[in-house]
Amino acid sequence: MNTQLIQSTKAFFEKTFGNTPQKIVLSPGRINIIGEHIDYNDGYVLPAAIDKVICFAFEKTNSTTSTIVAIDLGESVTIDVTADSKLSDTIWTNYFRGILQQLQNKGLVIGNFNCVFSSSIPVGSGLSSSAALECGFLFGLNELFHLDIKPVDIALMGQSAEHWVGINCGIMDQFSSVMGKTNQVIKIDCRTLEYEYHKADFSDYSLVLFDSNVKHSLFSSAYNQRREECEQGLAILSSHFPEVKSFREATEVQLLSIKDTMTEDVFKRSHYVIKEIKRVTLACEALDRGDIETLGQLLFETHEGLSKEYEVSCAELDMIVDTLKKEPAVVGSRVMGGGFGGCTINLIKKGQEEAIKTKLAQLYQETFGIELKIYEVTISNGTSLYHPS
Ligand code: GLA
Repeated sequence: MNTQLIQSTKAFFEKTFGNTPQKIVLSPGRINIIGEHIDYNDGYVLPAAIDKVICFAFEKTNSTTSTIVAIDLGESVTIDVTADSKLSDTIWTNYFRGILQQLQNKGLVIGNFNCVFSSSIPVGSGLSSSAALECGFLFGLNELFHLDIKPVDIALMGQSAEHWVGINCGIMDQFSSVMGKTNQVIKIDCRTLEYEYHKADFSDYSLVLFDSNVKHSLFSSAYNQRREECEQGLAILSSHFPEVKSFREATEVQLLSIKDTMTEDVFKRSHYVIKEIKRVTLACEALDRGDIETLGQLLFETHEGLSKEYEVSCAELDMIVDTLKKEPAVVGSRVMGGGFGGCTINLIKKGQEEAIKTKLAQLYQETFGIELKIYEVTISNGTSLYHPS
């Protein structure tokens, strides 16, 4: 599926620099079955890497600066890799600058390079194109300059780069982009970074993504605000119940008993988090026993929480989920990723996908005047080198 992307990236590199690239890296986006906004709350998440990727081509050079070309945008940047990174108005370059800064922070020295990249991950759809960018770039530099950075550390440095850019994200996106495995979801314990793979077998149901085609311009500030509200909620909980060190140890009963001591918003965020942490464990057990109806029901519950309590949904996403809830062929649906737009993840009875897609796309267009985008994804390997056969 990505053959064409790889060929065109390689051809672009050869035309631009006159050499065959020394390394080609594929870095995937991710889906998340369940466990939303709890990676930074010491919860568990259940993501997987997908077959939508960013393809990078690299070579080392003897030049005094390095060049990165964003093929899809028709833009390029020249960077001094020895200087401290500074945020730029050209947003896409910041993910690269953020990674270079992490290398500097760790005292890891690299030489100069040429890099081009092109992507099949839709941007702003909640599929983590930024994590793929950070992790794919760092993975490539790691190979090119033999830095010996371990895969989990690539993910952690990718996360730090995202923080440097300004989003105080958790570890889920970078971890799943790096550690993904074909046909497996990863259950990550975000407190310890222990992880286990579970078979991604959805039995009689297909995973389909519906992209609302809506993007929230205040995403980063709203995301960071949620994180702060959770920190406040946890601090209040811990002050009443010293044994509660993270939301994982907290119960709904405890939270309800101190509801009056926090703002309405902080209460709602905390309530959602405590319940979502429990849902992930139930969802993973349901997946393991092939009980996709129960899994789907949990997805609906997560959406309800994300919409009403965590307040990261929007009218378009709510309409998609509410519409699908009425369809007997759909057992689960919810907003996926950070929210405020982007995709819903949906479980649809095999054989019924086309009928549901057509019906929803039409209704969506009529209601909002926006085209619904539809992605079928395959659960695939994490960031890797491409070896031409
Ligand atoms: C974004 C962040 C992740 C995670 C999700 C919500 O994708 O990058 O760390 O918090 O939102 O689950």
